[in-house]
Amino acid sequence: MNGQEQNQRGHWGSKIAFIFAATGSAIGLGNIWRFPMVVGKYGGAVFVFVYILAVVLIGFTVMLAEMIIGRHTQRNAIGAFEHIKPRKPWKIIGFLGLLTSICILSYYSVIAGWAAGYFVKTASGTFRGAITSQMSDQIYTNFVSNPLLALICFFVVIGITTLIISKGVQSGIERWTKILMPVLFILIIYLAIKALTLPGASEGLSFYLKPDFSKLNGTVVLFAFGQAFFSLSIGMGIMITYGSYIHKSDNLVTSAGWVSFADTLIAFLAGLIIFPTLFAIPGIAPTAGPGLVFKVFPLIFSKIPNGHFFGMLFFTLLLVAAITSTISLLEVSVAYFIDERSWSRKKAAFLLGGFAFLLGIPSALSSGGMKFFTDIDFMGKFDIIFANISLAVGALLICIFVGWIWGIKKPVEEVRSGNPRFRIRPLWVFSLKFLSPVVLIIILIFIKKIITG
Ligand code: TRP
Repeated sequence: MNGQEQNQRGHWGSKIAFIFAATGSAIGLGNIWRFPMVVGKYGGAVFVFVYILAVVLIGFTVMLAEMIIGRHTQRNAIGAFEHIKPRKPWKIIGFLGLLTSICILSYYSVIAGWAAGYFVKTASGTFRGAITSQMSDQIYTNFVSNPLLALICFFVVIGITTLIISKGVQSGIERWTKILMPVLFILIIYLAIKALTLPGASEGLSFYLKPDFSKLNGTVVLFAFGQAFFSLSIGMGIMITYGSYIHKSDNLVTSAGWVSFADTLIAFLAGLIIFPTLFAIPGIAPTAGPGLVFKVFPLIFSKIPNGHFFGMLFFTLLLVAAITSTISLLEVSVAYFIDERSWSRKKAAFLLGGFAFLLGIPSALSSGGMKFFTDIDFMGKFDIIFANISLAVGALLICIFVGWIWGIKKPVEEVRSGNPRFRIRPLWVFSLKFLSPVVLIIILIFIKKIITG
């Protein structure tokens, strides 16, 4: 890469801008839609317990490793591996990440489209007045099984993402996240308080927070780890790409720590809204799957003053949170084609965005929209293959690469350039070289057994 291209990449305006962008990537549907869905499906509190362990012990380790690779090499997720170990197969990790990011983008945007659709529904008064859980269930089913509607909403999300990415990192990403993330945070706290004070909320609270360890098994562990990687946006090179825009003087440890913490907090709060509401207003099962959040949130809005307004605000912010994540998913491959293939940013954004749209069509139609042809659950299959398996493989390879192949000296130096003391170094190195790889290998060995039950 020559100097001019280097300048074209741009840097984050400040450390705080980077943290906002990385947090914006991490916080999204993974926290508010996917987290409650998997908690409900895989055993409640025991899942939450394993999830937190996964974030603290392994997620943080991998996130820091990715940021180190990115900042050290100043490259995209593929160029970075080539730069550290030229002409060796390690850049496959980057290609795996590229494939994974586009595939996740394809179905993720379908769900983001549902958030857009729900905004319009709320604005047009569908949820005004008292809503029962049966009504909410019916509204959801009618909405997602309408093929045209699902495709239009999906198209809108991919379109917005492509436009933002085609305009570039600085102007595109920073502006959105800085203002809207804090508003989302305040809204979620407010809704959690409201949900917790509903009569009958305590049963939901104990489902969510009182672990029943007899429910612990391989499936719980696999999905808890998959969810941790998905939610933190790690295992596929996003944080490499974003890390390549961080200044040398910034502290990577506190950055990775802050992003992991903020992400986990939002997911935790989302659960505090969903489960108390779910048990206080019975009729929807915790195992409802992808529709869980869309069925339950209207219920809480129907129970609070000015619920109509809060509903519109919530779905708007959910959409924004989703879009700050979709842009990160698209940026991985766009950065690659700009750096390594000399494509223009516009060309890369439109071609890859278009590709993700085509790829996502079966997912957009798999919630009932094409029931006349097939009932294969494309979205569910994509989600298992890419969010659970592929991210775990990516995370494992990143640990091996940074911990064993690159040699631990360079990564440690990289951290020290912005954090001379690097006090958690022994813990991080232990997790990177031993703990994380062992845990991930065990999970991957058992994957087939776990999935086939
Ligand atoms: N973490 C995002 C969320 O929780 C989704 C996401 C964005 C992601 N970039 C990613 C997931 C990279 C895995 C890998 O909504």
